[in-house]
This record gives sequence, C-alpha cells and structure tokens, in this order.
Amino acid sequence: MAIGNNQTSLTSSGFGLELKDIDLAELDDNTKSILVEGFYASGGAILIRNQQHLTPKQLCDFVSLFGSVEKNEKYDPNFLEPDFPEVLRIGNLMEDGQRKALWIKSDEERLWHSDDTFRHPQPIGSCLFCVTAPPTGGETWFAGMGEAYDDLTFEIKQKIKPLTALHSYNHLNEFLRKTNPHRPPLSSEMRKNLPPITRPLVVEHPVTHKKALCVTNIHIEAISDLDETEARVLLNDLLDHATKPEFVFSHAWKPGDLIVWDNRCAMHAPSPFDENKYNRLMYRLTMNGEQVIPDGN
Ligand code: OGA
Ligand code: MN
Repeated sequence: MAIGNNQTSLTSSGFGLELKDIDLAELDDNTKSILVEGFYASGGAILIRNQQHLTPKQLCDFVSLFGSVEKNEKYDPNFLEPDFPEVLRIGNLMEDGQRKALWIKSDEERLWHSDDTFRHPQPIGSCLFCVTAPPTGGETWFAGMGEAYDDLTFEIKQKIKPLTALHSYNHLNEFLRKTNPHRPPLSSEMRKNLPPITRPLVVEHPVTHKKALCVTNIHIEAISDLDETEARVLLNDLLDHATKPEFVFSHAWKPGDLIVWDNRCAMHAPSPFDENKYNRLMYRLTMNGEQVIPDGN
C-alpha cells in the first residue's frame, strides 16, 4: 500500500515500511529523520533497496542512527569484515575449505524469533544487507508484534496481561539439537553465564511506549501459573495469531537490499535455500540501546 510517493506499507496492518528514493551514502538531517521516524512508525522493520554502493563505514553510520553498533566480539574473527568488526558476514561463503561467514542453517519449519530474548540486555535490533542472494529460497520473514497485540480481543488481552514467560538459551539449544544432533549441549559455564530470565508476554516498547507481544516460543521454557500443556497451547495460539498474513511479510533478497528490524516489537524467521547450488552472503550489523525491561529488573 502506498503511503506517500516514496513510502509503501509492506502489510495490510501497517507493519513494515519500504522507504524509496533514499541514498544511504548521503545522510543529511532530513534523510536521518525520515529513517528514524520510519523505523518507529513501521512497527519495527524498514526496507531500503538499491544500496549496493555502500561502504562498510557508511553501513555503520546508517545503523548507528538506531542504536550503538556492536563490535561482534563473541564471533569468530574470520567472519568479520577486515577493519570493520561491526560487520558480521552470514552465509555459506567458503575459502580454502574454511568458513568465512557464520552459517545459520535453516530448515523448512519457520523458526520465528526475536534475537536473544533469553538475555538482558538483548540486542535491540539488526540490519541485514544483501551482498549475494540465491535466485530462489533464503527469504527472510518478518512479523509485527505491536500490530498483532492491538488486534487481540479484550478478553485475551486481560488473560495474558499478568503472565510472564521464562526465556532460556538452554531451552533453545535443546530444541535445535533435536534436528541437529551434532550441536553440543551447553557447557555448565554457558548455563551459568546465561541463566533463564523472565519477561512479560506483553512488553512495552521503551521508545514508542506501544505494547507488543513477546512470544518467541522457541526460547520459552515455561509460563507463570500454567502447566506445560496449557503453556504450549497458549503460546501456539498466540504465535498463530501473531503470524497471520496481515502482520507478516517475506522478503526475497536482491543485492543492495537492506532491512533494519527492532527486536523489541518484531519477530523474524529465516528460510532455507539450496546451499550446494547457490551462494547467499549477507552483512549483519547489530545495535544495542534502550531495553524492554524484563521482570525482576
Ligand atoms: C539473524 C537471522 C535470518 C536470515 O540474522 O538474526 O535470523 O534470513 N537471520 O538470514
Ligand atoms: Mn535472528
């Protein structure tokens, strides 16, 4: 849906915004305010195409409009762009038999998540920039959790208002191990450093103060006051609601496309591609900033 000459909504609920006629190499004050306002007005996902000319420095300058840009210390230095540790390569790139990018294998099941809800502070969002895309597959899906929350019935809003969920990295790791038995269990050191944390099912965005669902079910181990079956039924119902077509768009990447998302009010999910036939290379920049406050903090 066209909103003006150069803005198009990516879903019928208003979640997701494509901003057109923008050159991110020229960040004047007017462009900066269009980008930042667009980011929050979009419910947490903006798409800009045709930016293949950007340098890593210009990508960093752009992403720093939304938060402080992470230096990716926890990743293998072989996956980072020379002189720009902010730029993490994601994909199936190999050189001399060595991986040169972080390889996130995705399967057919759509694994909806927002990044690292099991830790506080969490990265507030990321930018994916497409360098090389397969002709088919490898799309990324996005879903708006503010729009999905607004659309719930009064009864459901009342029911979930007091509920909190236990988000756990170990739960995610064990879930991923079911389809990937080579993935090792978490070390006791990791489990100690990343203990489960509690977040409400309905969170408030620290900048817009809009409410959003936080139902990253692959991270959630338990829900307060519900037994395991009730918790799974509720989470599946909420996830089904939150990923209805009106709240969701999928993006088929072309080189030069870029999407910035907000983990505090949007979920995303990767999709597979034929990695033996095609190349996919993305640059990922991650930002830190104002947090949704988990329970007990
Ligand atoms: C991520 C992610 C999906 C993709 O970078 O956090 O989930 O399609 N990426 O690359
Ligand atoms: Mn992710």
